[in-house]
Amino acid sequence: MKDIIKVTATAAKVDFSRDAIEALAIGIFSDVKGLDKFALALDRSAGGAISAVLSAGEFKGDMGSCEVAYSKGATGPRRILLVGLGKRKDADADSLRKAAAVAGKRAVAAKIEQLSLALHKATARVKPQAAGQAMVEGAYFGSYRYDEYVTGGENERPAELAVCVADDNAKTLAQLRRGVAVGAVIGAAQSYGRTIANRPGNVINPPALAQEAQRMAAEYKSLACTVLDKKQLTQKGMGGILAVGAGSAGEPRFIVLKYTPARPRKGSPTVALVGKAITFDSGGISIKPAENMEQMKLDKSGGVAVMATMKAVAELGLPLNVYGLIPSAENLPDGHSYRPGDIVTTYSGKTVEILNTDAEGRMILCDAIAYAVEQQCDIIVDIATLTGACMVALGNHRAGLMTDDDKLCRTLEKAAADSGEKLWRLPCGDEYAEQMKSKIADLKNIGGKWGGACTAAAFLRQFAGEARWAHLDIAGMDIFAQANAYAAEGSTGFGVRLLTALLMTLAEGQ
Ligand code: BES
Ligand code: ZN
Ligand code: ZN
Repeated sequence: MKDIIKVTATAAKVDFSRDAIEALAIGIFSDVKGLDKFALALDRSAGGAISAVLSAGEFKGDMGSCEVAYSKGATGPRRILLVGLGKRKDADADSLRKAAAVAGKRAVAAKIEQLSLALHKATARVKPQAAGQAMVEGAYFGSYRYDEYVTGGENERPAELAVCVADDNAKTLAQLRRGVAVGAVIGAAQSYGRTIANRPGNVINPPALAQEAQRMAAEYKSLACTVLDKKQLTQKGMGGILAVGAGSAGEPRFIVLKYTPARPRKGSPTVALVGKAITFDSGGISIKPAENMEQMKLDKSGGVAVMATMKAVAELGLPLNVYGLIPSAENLPDGHSYRPGDIVTTYSGKTVEILNTDAEGRMILCDAIAYAVEQQCDIIVDIATLTGACMVALGNHRAGLMTDDDKLCRTLEKAAADSGEKLWRLPCGDEYAEQMKSKIADLKNIGGKWGGACTAAAFLRQFAGEARWAHLDIAGMDIFAQANAYAAEGSTGFGVRLLTALLMTLAEGQ
């Protein structure tokens, strides 16, 4: 196993027409004819290289596109990456994030080691701090590849990528720099999460995930990590986690990360982030078909997103108390497995009739949510690759958001807009809860054929007590994610930017 690409990010004042730059990314709108003032000056110093590419007519400035102009000038950038920003009227921080991702991906493919970003020069609609953050997050995102186990693969990409947000104005640069610092923390945390999520089931089982959480937490004074093993889970009566983990030699764990700020802001809520970490989901006795089953190593993505968010929170030093609760199990068929028909007593005391062992996510989450209630958390947000039904409903463009709290819904929607990790609200009210009632126990673990994402959420709601609660179903965002203009195949790290943005907003008292 070797290291993945190491990315660093800085901000620097540059003279675009004079300073030697290995590669500079600039933004081009698809609906704007001709070059803006900044691109025009650059084009002149590059001996017309930019206008030559544009007049060839293949590059149109569409979102996701990128073309390289090689400078014919003696000074300034050697390569200019022309990156599409789409339509000018739609330009926002996420346009810059996506364009930076495209540039980052291209840089790695071309073995570029230093990438300067001046995408923000194309639009005044995004404030410099937000622009700096978004571009750096994007550069981390796009340059990511998972090649820990590809021997010799180092030769196909740079060992390190130095990203630099460039501007010629000192005042703008100061604002950009603040965003760059935040973006580097969040970008690195997201890449960390993607690597842990991408590791296969034979490398990461629940004990290994718990060890990784402990190793990560040990790097920060403000983070404490406690791990409950099988014996402790049994003593506490966490019947859901135990049932799901019973069929695997890799015993279940409950990972409790606790972030305590140096000084919490007065009146800030205590937040619990609860993430599903099934290190491999075969379905158990209700076994899944063989096709695509390998993708189910990514069924730990919710838990990993929580782990990576905790890392970002510790590095940013946010002024609020946060729990990162990660129930972890491997769902396998075996002589000790839980089975259809079983009745499981969960940590809350509620009993659940198991009708399908493949609906295991809710069985581990319900214990962790009950634990969050016991710790008197004010807000509980759970995140999970929970249902194929959510994927059917929303595809892989938006995660499902279910909550009965309109204010928390708005806060999450703001976090989605800030982070570019999009959500779509789905219902989870009483009608759906009705479908989860059992005749021989308090609840059953599946609710019939229809509305599977909503009934799953309605199930979880029953364990959140009086806390403000929201559920994020990210099944479509990570599992089956295909490589595209912005991302490599495998985990997208969905949720790390979103949850960090949520905590930043809650820390500000909003
Ligand atoms: N991890 C899966 C959900 C999933 C399926 C995510 C496909 C991404 C792609 C989850 O544990 C599961 O198997 N859910 C079942 C629930 C059903 C048995 C009620 C599903 O969605 O089919
Ligand atoms: Zn399952
Ligand atoms: Zn699952």
